[in-house]
Amino acid sequence: MEADKGKVCVTGGTGFVASWLIMRLLQHGYSAHTTVRPGPEHKRDVSFLTSLPGASKKLQIFQADLSIPESFESAIKGCIGVFHVATPVDFENKEPEEVIVKRTIDGTLGILKACLNSKTVKRVVYTSSASTIVFSDKVVDTMDEGFWSNVDYIKSINYFTFGPYMISKTSTEKIALEFAEEHGLDLVTVIPSFIVGPFICPKFPGSVHTSMAMILGEREQYGLLLNLSMVHTDDVARAHIFLFEYPEARGRYICSSHTITIEELSKFLSAKYPQFPIPTVESLKGIEGYKTPGVSPKKLLDSGFEFKYGLDEMFDEAIQCCKEKGYL
Ligand SMILES: NC(=O)c1ccc[n+]([C@@H]2O[C@H](COP(=O)([O-])OP(=O)(O)OC[C@H]3O[C@@H](n4cnc5c(N)ncnc54)[C@H](OP(=O)(O)O)[C@@H]3O)[C@@H](O)[C@H]2O)c1
Repeated sequence: MEADKGKVCVTGGTGFVASWLIMRLLQHGYSAHTTVRPGPEHKRDVSFLTSLPGASKKLQIFQADLSIPESFESAIKGCIGVFHVATPVDFENKEPEEVIVKRTIDGTLGILKACLNSKTVKRVVYTSSASTIVFSDKVVDTMDEGFWSNVDYIKSINYFTFGPYMISKTSTEKIALEFAEEHGLDLVTVIPSFIVGPFICPKFPGSVHTSMAMILGEREQYGLLLNLSMVHTDDVARAHIFLFEYPEARGRYICSSHTITIEELSKFLSAKYPQFPIPTVESLKGIEGYKTPGVSPKKLLDSGFEFKYGLDEMFDEAIQCCKEKGYL
């Protein structure tokens, strides 16, 4: 553990990315506040967070919900930084798109206002997604931070059940950047591609599940793997902390270390894990889906960040975690 670096707030501590980030922040010498949504009867099992090394002294859990934008105020009070990671993830579309988008935007603006009011928050690191970049009619192999997804285009392509999520991410990142500019708030956005690797949250993270579709034999998900950009869980947490600490950080940063086609993924997995019945390249012909462009992490790398993990670690560690938690 490093020396005390101050107190930061992470929203959505029960989630895949946020829980890993909290673990790393505690190891890096930060104290952390985190927010969780109240469960039925206000009880949530957060023992996987409270049992983290250092948590008994350095982690404090607050209740907050994006549906109540002002509910984040007490968690943010006194913090030097905020990592806004929480987002509604509803791939079953139980709620209308407008409701999800409004909740995400209003909740995020509530968080940003609380950061301004706190007078202590020096920087906000907002977790965006590559889905804010790659969905438009622009035809290029690789995209950078200058590209934005187009909401009407997202609606037109009917991309599995992810439309409302992708629209809410695109609209919210834009609005967050505009709000920050207008109010002089130091805000940077981290834009991860598919996050693959280990996890400490009890839930099977959706992106780890999808990336393992060939291992799990879930053919209906193969359409999402046509040209997959990926990054390791720990590299995402490291990039969040790097961008919080890097004095010159400005604007958007893509965080993605590998892009591979479905054929390359099939070859990689079948050579590495012969114990699983990975589909052959031949059998993948005719898989339908939307081939997204790759995304470039050049801006993040030019700032001095280095990725630490490759595809081997992403899949080895994801498989290991799935075995330990009974998902495989
Ligand atoms: N996983 C990826 O591949 C990936 C890629 C790019 C970007 N991201 C971004 O990374 C962030 C975290 O995603 P994740 O993969 O860790 O997803 P996750 O495990 O589903 O975490 C989402 C978190 O948001 C919380 N949340 C949902 N609705 C909320 C609400 N109304 N109020 C407050 N909190 C709410 C969830 O709380 P509950 O536990 O109560 O549901 C959960 O803690 C998101 O911003 C996502 O867009 C993820």
